[in-house]
Amino acid sequence: MSLSRRELIALGLTSFAGVATRGVVPATDLLAWGEPQRRRSDSFEPDVELSLRAAPGEVTVREGRPTRVWRFTGSVVKGPASAMTPGDSYLGPTLRLARGQKVRIRFHNELAEPSIVHWHGMDVPEAADGHPHRAIAAGSEYIYEFTVENRAGTYWYHPHPHERTGPQVNMGLAGLLIVSDEQERALGLPSGDAELTAVIQDRSFDADGQFRYAANMMEREMGFTGEVMLVNGKPDTQWSLGTRAYRLRLLNGSNARIYKLVWSDGTPMTVIGSDGGLLERPVERRAVTLAPGQRVELWLDLSSRPVGHKLELRSEAWPIADGGLDMGGGGGMGMGMRMREGASPQGAAHTLIGITVARRERSSARLPRTLVPFDRSWQPVANAPVRRVPLTFRRMVWFMGGRSFDMHEAAEDETVQAGSTQVWEFENAGGPMGMQMAHPIHMHGRQFRVLSRSGASPTNALSEGIVDAGWMDTVLVLPSETVRVQVTFTQHPGTYLYHCHILEHEDMGMMRNFKVV
Ligand code: C2O
Ligand code: CU
Ligand code: CU
Repeated sequence: MSLSRRELIALGLTSFAGVATRGVVPATDLLAWGEPQRRRSDSFEPDVELSLRAAPGEVTVREGRPTRVWRFTGSVVKGPASAMTPGDSYLGPTLRLARGQKVRIRFHNELAEPSIVHWHGMDVPEAADGHPHRAIAAGSEYIYEFTVENRAGTYWYHPHPHERTGPQVNMGLAGLLIVSDEQERALGLPSGDAELTAVIQDRSFDADGQFRYAANMMEREMGFTGEVMLVNGKPDTQWSLGTRAYRLRLLNGSNARIYKLVWSDGTPMTVIGSDGGLLERPVERRAVTLAPGQRVELWLDLSSRPVGHKLELRSEAWPIADGGLDMGGGGGMGMGMRMREGASPQGAAHTLIGITVARRERSSARLPRTLVPFDRSWQPVANAPVRRVPLTFRRMVWFMGGRSFDMHEAAEDETVQAGSTQVWEFENAGGPMGMQMAHPIHMHGRQFRVLSRSGASPTNALSEGIVDAGWMDTVLVLPSETVRVQVTFTQHPGTYLYHCHILEHEDMGMMRNFKVV
């Protein structure tokens, strides 16, 4: 695969011009293709209508000085009030939708730069997917209309403008989108106070208490990590809970940090859900690896704990080399680059949530032995076409399938029939000098299944926590690893994205269109 001159020039421009310091993407880049959907359609009768705005604001994230943030706020225009609950701290409101609902969302961009919202994990028409070519200018409005087709699950939303996703998310723009359905309701899982959500993010603060962002090439190559762990937009999170069972929905909303989650008291992690909703049956692990963009649902049963018992949700230490970020030379990222003082590298141990069992509570909730039987649409398809997608690094740029992002282009092997099934094989090939990193690869549209993994180092500490038992939209591909996923593409024709969910990699062009015809 060789790059055309035009592509090389584009790469030079997009990848080396210091995006972090540039405020605004020229409008010509954004409006050259496609037409933003600004008008509501008369034929669409929504069950739920929401208004969502992105605007600058100020939030006290840490004691002392307020932090300037960009945040989503919103209101319910039509439908149940429960469709939107305000987010904690800088986070956007939590949207609660039900499968089958027709939803209209009016998005107002009150930032000083273009933006567009993407509903991560949702299978929606292209016009509602938040592709960067749909980005709208500061001060304008975009109207999303879609029917909720997804299974019950923990999804989320975040901006997706060209080359500005990383900085916009870092400033605070993200929120949860929770879908419910009949099948899930029939299970009677813990709900209300017994259903907990945690958006896990890391941030870096400057001396003024303001969010820092990737200041140099290295922080973009490696993905931007912060030294302060936030849960639902707050540091030092403490929960006081009762002696009962909880359902815990976790989102890794970090730009680049991978967590290896454990309970500090040795309680096994009981996984009941993944990106695309509940598993067929619970899976028990000592640790759970959660990469950027991914969600996991846990069952936490505190019913036999004494009042006063304490435990923590921690991210335990893992060797930085297992993420491909060996700084020590002799391979990996050993390019003589130093980390900023006070930084917390990938793989550092952190406490995320402190839990105290504070009161006796009665509950009859039992962990069901089977959760939701998957419909038979999920079976490995023996003769599905296989497409190899090497993940490579050359000249300081990450590539997918040998190519870099082009707003307008989908290659022939990136053109697929609506509703057809293929196997995509993400091969973490790296580049010269062993330049490799773990990449969480995300596909828009449909949830997929992982068929197999091979080639990772047998001692990679992140492997232990990987759970492939459910529907996923984001899959972590470890250094040297090949991960095969089977995906049945959306029925909605149009241009969708697949990309690395390390947002700095995405912004640097580790992203491609695929076209559903
Ligand atoms: Cu969560 Cu295309 O992204
Ligand atoms: Cu997405
Ligand atoms: Cu990546």
